[in-house]
Amino acid sequence: MIQPVRWADDAVEYIDQRHLPHETRVVRAQTVDELEAAIQTLAVRGAPAIGVFGAYAVALLRRNISDDAAFEAAVQRISTARPTAINLSWAVDRVLSAHDMLAEANTIHDEQRKVDQLIAQSALPLFSGASRILTHCNTGPLATAGEGTALGTIIAAAARRKLSVYVSETRPLLQGARLTMYELREAGVDATLIVDSAAAVTMQQKKIDLVIVGADRIARNGDTANKIGTYGLAIAAAHHGIPFYVAAPRSSFDLSLESGAVIPIEERGSNEVRELNGAAIAEAGTAIYNPAFDVTPARLVTAFITEYGILQPPYAESIPDLANRPALAVLA
Ligand code: MRU
Repeated sequence: MIQPVRWADDAVEYIDQRHLPHETRVVRAQTVDELEAAIQTLAVRGAPAIGVFGAYAVALLRRNISDDAAFEAAVQRISTARPTAINLSWAVDRVLSAHDMLAEANTIHDEQRKVDQLIAQSALPLFSGASRILTHCNTGPLATAGEGTALGTIIAAAARRKLSVYVSETRPLLQGARLTMYELREAGVDATLIVDSAAAVTMQQKKIDLVIVGADRIARNGDTANKIGTYGLAIAAAHHGIPFYVAAPRSSFDLSLESGAVIPIEERGSNEVRELNGAAIAEAGTAIYNPAFDVTPARLVTAFITEYGILQPPYAESIPDLANRPALAVLA
């Protein structure tokens, strides 16, 4: 199992995902500058994985910064290093409210592994009549520091039956091409890479049975923020009558938000679009719009796959009910 984030006593160690799949470079972050940069540069990325990383980061900063005001300022930087995935501030808040911060960070990490296994179990019945699967971005172990959410369900299903898996490359940072293809190969699952703009025709021609993606933040009504391009996939899936599933842990649901209209969407730098592998592909000065996420309206989501099972519409009932579910340790 790939381990993207690890507590290392005097540092938080991580795999710098920007160099994958060509190089597995393990890096140590110790200062708030290094910890914040790891998240902001997407060296560590994926909603649950940045939550786990943020939890360890806060535990480390508490050890190293004795001045309370300086510690609070450092925590604020970690908590807001990326705005869209709720898992980051959720994990930071959880660690802050714990007596033993490192123990809580370890618990968050352990829970994520367990949650991912439960999500994969919840999803298995959905794969019983489906063998042609399309997924987007990266939702495997690199993205969760566990076994993966959407990709975890695909890997678990592929262990039971032959699947045809299609992976969209996920411009501009190519998490699908670089990370998902790598994780599927490591897991021994055959997959086919497509450019993002081939997704609709792949649904039409290859007769995709289901689309499954992860999430960065899900509002109370089921509106779902995920990697840019997810909304377009959901529209195309609806047009072709293909089920569209979102696999996500409880920690990705933000029950305080009525709808996706108020989810903060991260806009990233123009060079991510203007350049490819450091080489310019558009003229200097070209105007660029680079939203990192989009919001898929709840009506386009067939169901949510969680550690508590499948959440069906009407989401105005099934999602708020998550607040009444037992804590993970009580499950099992
Ligand atoms: O910008 P990224 O690479 O952090 O975006 C990741 C995604 O959008 C994932 O689909 C999402 O975080 C779910 S990860 C299980």
